[in-house]
Amino acid sequence: MPADPDNAFTLPASLYTDNDILKLEYQAIFESHWQLVGHIDQLKAIGDQLICQVGRIPVVVVRNSSNELKAFHNVCRHRAGPVAIKNANDKVLRCKYHGWTYTLDGELRSAPEMNSTPHFDVCQYHLPQAKIETWQGFVFVCINESPPALDDLLEGIQQTILPIDLSTFSFSHRDEYLIDCNWKVYMDNYLEGYHLPHVHPGLNKLLDYRSYDTILHRWHSYQYSPLDNPETDDSNFYGDGQAHYYCVFPNLMLNILPGRLQTNIIIPDGVEKTKIYFDYYYDNMGAKETESLIAKDREFSDEIQEEDIMICEQVQKGLNSGSYQAGRLCMKRESGVLHFQDLIRHSLKSAYTDD
Ligand code: FES
Ligand SMILES: [Fe+2]
Repeated sequence: MPADPDNAFTLPASLYTDNDILKLEYQAIFESHWQLVGHIDQLKAIGDQLICQVGRIPVVVVRNSSNELKAFHNVCRHRAGPVAIKNANDKVLRCKYHGWTYTLDGELRSAPEMNSTPHFDVCQYHLPQAKIETWQGFVFVCINESPPALDDLLEGIQQTILPIDLSTFSFSHRDEYLIDCNWKVYMDNYLEGYHLPHVHPGLNKLLDYRSYDTILHRWHSYQYSPLDNPETDDSNFYGDGQAHYYCVFPNLMLNILPGRLQTNIIIPDGVEKTKIYFDYYYDNMGAKETESLIAKDREFSDEIQEEDIMICEQVQKGLNSGSYQAGRLCMKRESGVLHFQDLIRHSLKSAYTDD
């Protein structure tokens, strides 16, 4: 049952500091929901292999000889070695430990020097599969066999952002950050514009705080704001249009501005450490204007990210302090935080009940 918005409190501090909660989250959240792992451009040719991590499980995505995408646990059936250690192109998946070799359909084909081992038959071994789907050229993987439909998670996004068409965008670059806070601190921070005037003076100039609004969907929340007129505000180098900020449960952000998409993937790396990948995609790659947009965009995004990192790391210290249990949420500005935290509460509760 969703929390009562008239009496909405945050999650308790212990959910941001407890190792057992993180273990439960890996299973009940990261391995139960779709995770964005890359772009179809990385998997164009037969034999292309892309490595990634889904919850606790190393995964390799391949394009097999029938030209289909497949995802397998990147964990050899011999002694748990990796069958792929980097993105590559090969006809097979060959374990880097003792050379057991799997087809691109995950079947074990050969195992060196195992002929004389009694009761051993290569036919009995295959890599466990994960589910895989694509959306607008983005590749998603899920460990759970019956996750919510990917289309439901992303419902309405492409229509809302028209005339922007994400399927025409191409990858430009990735920036990585490792920060000292629980992954949910970073999520909570993303989900509200309440902190804009206090934490992001530069971004606050570009957006219209008074028109900034949040719309809630089943599995994602949508924050948006018109951009200042580029003719009268020279801090707007993006052009005419809107800022669209989508937070897709559990850990994906799509930040869409005219001609540009930045995806943020938020991965726990311990209870108080979080890895963040910023992947940048642009329409019209290679054009001169795009090159200048990329340079300015990167610099501006980095400035905003430094501001967010600073406040998130301070919040983690507050949560660790023992001085704070939970706080009231501002329903005018923090409905997205409540929505996300409700999904977390629900996922953790179901995992407890199932155990
Ligand atoms: S662990 Fe893969 S071959 Fe030994
Ligand atoms: Fe922020």
